Amino acid sequence: MAFLDTPWLSLLLISWACLGLALLMRKYTWRDNHLPLPPGPPGEFLLGHLRKIPKENTAATYAQWSKKYKSDVIHVKSLGQSIIVLNSLRAAKELLDKKGAIYSDRPRFTLFEEMGWKKTLTFLPYGECWQMHRKMLQTDLSNTNVRQWQPFQLQECRRTINNMLCNSDWENSLRRFTVAIVLKVSYGTDVFDENDPYIKIANDAMYAMGNGGAPANSIVEVFPLARYLPNWLLRDWPLKFARDWKWAIQTLHEVPFSCAYKDVVSCDNVKFTADRMLTRTEEQCQNWTLEDIKGAAGAVFIAGADTTWATCVIFILNMVLNPEVQRKAHEQLDLVVGRDRLPNFGDRPNLPYIEWIVQEVYRWSPLAPLGIPHKSVKNDVYNGMHIPKAMGRDERVYHDPASFQPERYRPIEEGGPGEPFPVAHFGFGRRICVGRFLADNSVWIMICTMLATLRFQKKTDADGNVMPTRVEFTNGGTCHPMHFECTIQPRTNQTLALVSAAPNEFGQRQVP
Ligand code: HEM
Repeated sequence: MAFLDTPWLSLLLISWACLGLALLMRKYTWRDNHLPLPPGPPGEFLLGHLRKIPKENTAATYAQWSKKYKSDVIHVKSLGQSIIVLNSLRAAKELLDKKGAIYSDRPRFTLFEEMGWKKTLTFLPYGECWQMHRKMLQTDLSNTNVRQWQPFQLQECRRTINNMLCNSDWENSLRRFTVAIVLKVSYGTDVFDENDPYIKIANDAMYAMGNGGAPANSIVEVFPLARYLPNWLLRDWPLKFARDWKWAIQTLHEVPFSCAYKDVVSCDNVKFTADRMLTRTEEQCQNWTLEDIKGAAGAVFIAGADTTWATCVIFILNMVLNPEVQRKAHEQLDLVVGRDRLPNFGDRPNLPYIEWIVQEVYRWSPLAPLGIPHKSVKNDVYNGMHIPKAMGRDERVYHDPASFQPERYRPIEEGGPGEPFPVAHFGFGRRICVGRFLADNSVWIMICTMLATLRFQKKTDADGNVMPTRVEFTNGGTCHPMHFECTIQPRTNQTLALVSAAPNEFGQRQVP
């Protein structure tokens, strides 16, 4: 067998820095080419680094090793599988951008297959099927094509602000926003309120993805045939969890699809992804099966909702922690947009400070959600362990990288430090996030409108004392801030009136 599989543990690292890219390499790639493997800590006989790679905060450990061994490219091994950890932008670009044809494969995720994921772009191996899916989604989600969704994003964003002011559960209001966007784009389906059954479908699927433990901890990733053994014979918790939650992944693929299918048959809607694929299947694209269509639409649903939501939550956390940043943003909004109207997409070029905040949210995020390992499809030599140029938290590029400072992007000619916008948060090479333009539009309009209309503050207790804000993150496939308390109020009476006047037609739906 030519290649090794990338262990799941590497995913945590990739997500963090990516900062994180774990690259699955053939066991002896370097040696085959008479080159040494990149440095790393000594491993144990047979087990390699299995017991040394921590299950939590893996990224921090990789970063320490990186410093200790003075290399941004680290090699570790777990149960015979080699993991190459890329901690620098340059290394990631060298391998994943410039040599995309080689490093665009994914390792096989047997556990996810067992959970019901099939033809989902994110997990597809590099090849014909991946190309077919990628081409379809890339066209639908191109920078130009996603502009058609801007009026919808604007409307849903304003509805969300309204919801956030009316309901105490602002996290769920944001959840509705992100689910509404991806459901509309993938299936043409509307999500009217926070109690919509589709929110539950999304939450269940996300729970299934985020709480089953690392696939690398499952025996099936090492011995795929073990998946055929019953639970009573094989005591493997991740495998049992995957089997127990298979229904959530099936529901995610089947329920929205069957609703969309009805619309297609009744020619109700011809815009959204599943519909266009169905139409193409019948007319030109005979290679597309129903499984392909369900998988492609499901990929948009699962890959797009949680990531965008987590990004918006990270923004709020930082506004609570940095009132000065909020104040400056309000100043610019008042100057450029004024208080008589709400911002729209046309304002983006005129709001540089808001742009810096958005970029800082992308950079500051302790991990890029949905970082997924790349795998090499053939032997190659990554020649050298170059000095890294930049990653989101690289102190050689970003001064005081842990702090949230939008001003870091102020150009040098304007008297600022001119630090570069982050680039790693959407991944690299041919597997770069296919939904990045849609996501960026959602994130920008949501952040900009929240700043124009709301004020975020630390919570105070009954005696008026300011309470500390919890700054902790989950440690799963998609990492996001743990619930934190804050106070959200309308910024001014004027903006409150504008938001209340925005379209806000709620309805209830029965999911079949
Ligand atoms: C702020 C929000 C988002 C972030 C931070 C994000 C980040 C990422 C990252 C880091 C990857 C892995 C790239 C790699 O392997 O190098 C990825 C892949 C992917 N993303 Fe996103 N994403 C976001 C939103 C979305 C949205 C809205 C969609 C769909 C409309 C989407 C669809 C996908 C898909 C389908 C893949 C797999 C691509 C492939 O394997 O070829 N993402 N994303």
